[in-house]
Amino acid sequence: MASTVSSSSTPITLPNSSIQTSFLPKTSQLSISKKKKPFNFVSKKLVSCKASNGDQNNEHSSSNRFDRRDVLVGLGGLYGATNLVSDPFAVAAPVAAPDLDLCERSTVTSKSAGTINVACCPPKLKDAIDFKPPSFSKIRYRPAAHLVDRHYLDKFTRAMELMKGLPEDDPRNFMQQANVHCAYCNGAYDNSALGLPNQELQVHFSWLFFPFHRLYLYFYERILGKLIGDPDFAMPFWNWDSPDGMVIPEIYVDPNSPLYDEKRNVNHQPPNMVDLDFAGEEEELSKNDLIKSNLSLMYRQMVRNRTATLFHGSAYRAGDKPSPGQGAIENNPHTAIHRWVGDQRQPYKEDMGNFYSAGRDPLFYAHHSNIDRLWNIWKSLPGKKRCDFPDTDWLDSSFLFYDENADLVRVKVRDALETTTLGYDYQRVDLPWLRYKPTPRRPGQGRGRHGHSHDHGRGRGRAVAAETNNAAIIHNIYPIVLDKLVRIEVPRPKKYRTRLEKEEEEEVLVFQNIQLNRDVAVKFDVYINDEDDETPTRPEDSEFAGSFTNLPHNNHHPGVKLDTNMTLPISDLLEDLDVEGDDNIVVTLVPKEGKGLVSIGNIKIDYIRD
Ligand code: C2O
Repeated sequence: MASTVSSSSTPITLPNSSIQTSFLPKTSQLSISKKKKPFNFVSKKLVSCKASNGDQNNEHSSSNRFDRRDVLVGLGGLYGATNLVSDPFAVAAPVAAPDLDLCERSTVTSKSAGTINVACCPPKLKDAIDFKPPSFSKIRYRPAAHLVDRHYLDKFTRAMELMKGLPEDDPRNFMQQANVHCAYCNGAYDNSALGLPNQELQVHFSWLFFPFHRLYLYFYERILGKLIGDPDFAMPFWNWDSPDGMVIPEIYVDPNSPLYDEKRNVNHQPPNMVDLDFAGEEEELSKNDLIKSNLSLMYRQMVRNRTATLFHGSAYRAGDKPSPGQGAIENNPHTAIHRWVGDQRQPYKEDMGNFYSAGRDPLFYAHHSNIDRLWNIWKSLPGKKRCDFPDTDWLDSSFLFYDENADLVRVKVRDALETTTLGYDYQRVDLPWLRYKPTPRRPGQGRGRHGHSHDHGRGRGRAVAAETNNAAIIHNIYPIVLDKLVRIEVPRPKKYRTRLEKEEEEEVLVFQNIQLNRDVAVKFDVYINDEDDETPTRPEDSEFAGSFTNLPHNNHHPGVKLDTNMTLPISDLLEDLDVEGDDNIVVTLVPKEGKGLVSIGNIKIDYIRD
């Protein structure tokens, strides 16, 4: 029997930074974990993050100012012409909330189904007011969707029914809320927020990903609470990072429930387990192997992505090109789950398989609630302190949402930093993935295999591309078109690093100018020093550095390709493989979905500290 959380009637008091094992639900996964030491949220070294409350003089801001100026010089003419930045050397450039009056219909395309136009602009009812953090008497706890009781389900169901029953033009109506996602993610606000002509506003593929979705769900939850007269109502999260949560939660699969959506992949109903590494095709894996794969992937994404850029995504300021780069969780498993739930039979893989329609599936909100929960967990992981960006361009980026009273509210990233300021937190459940550190495929072989590659005469810095094992040296390999397995030798600028350097900076593999059409589903995997192409490499292998993914979406310029970047951490991986003293690493790129549809402008190693 699963224990439950009733968010309103049972206040649960948890000290903010510790896990209480007594609160853990009695589920089978826990019996597995009983022998192991429960994970302790209290970090041994108590290091605090740099003030993130708007200190204008912090180190990050000033370094950004410098970068910013370079960018502005490059764009000189354009900037002179806008009134957003009258001084071409102005520095502050947070992404501004969109102008609803300039909202346009979204274009949705696919090669096979053609083009449709979708009206997803919100009604403009009044002027926006600035958000004020709510006052509340107790924290509400979002429960794991597979652990809720009847009482909770009744309440949640009623709230969703009421939301679906609101007048169509009420901004709190279910479809209006789904359209919030469509508008921010499918080009409806292009031209209206960044102050530059032909600029796209996109809340994915950058550091806006976590805060945007947190705030979006916050208002959604407040609306549901208001509709049932319970301001303490907390929405559930889909606990797909734990074995018991790795199926679509039961409460979402009853066709008579308002939580149901018929546009889902029919093959992925319970008891079929979600594949967090999903690439569009079913893989023949036993249940246990799938659990192992999922948990190892979670370990890699959560534990190894320590810096703000790695976890959140790249900086995106007003005037920047959109989609600079996704963070770890957004790349995977976020996209994989969207793809896995979306209905392959639908023209645009609705609902979850395309940004324009994802919000029409009630499961979307449980999925993103878990993503949001992982942000909290990431900041509390032990070891080196994981910190959000102190950069004011991030903190002052803003969005517009309608709140529970149908008031239009302007809310900033800085309002989204702590869920407890917003009045909610998450039910504490076990984090089994913390025990699934990847291991080398052939223990102790790291050096040997690398030596082997030198036998083939690959010099330092020489790029080699290979199809399977028949290595062929190709000069000017960039851009690489990923239509087959590609293998490249990448030089490491610093072979030896001091202990302090190793502690303070992360060695990263940077993919620049990854180009593709926005409307195609893409996944490619990246392996390091892995030259065995016979046995598939899995997330439980240390060699698996990460994946690039794209969930189909659009902007207003269907002909212009998405041009983005990816940064993967490799410090731990190189340590695992015992190759930290090597001059080069061998990078293998394997297209898993969207073969031949992606090109990569450059790959290099860098060192980052943020
Ligand atoms: Cu805004 Cu999961 O997408």
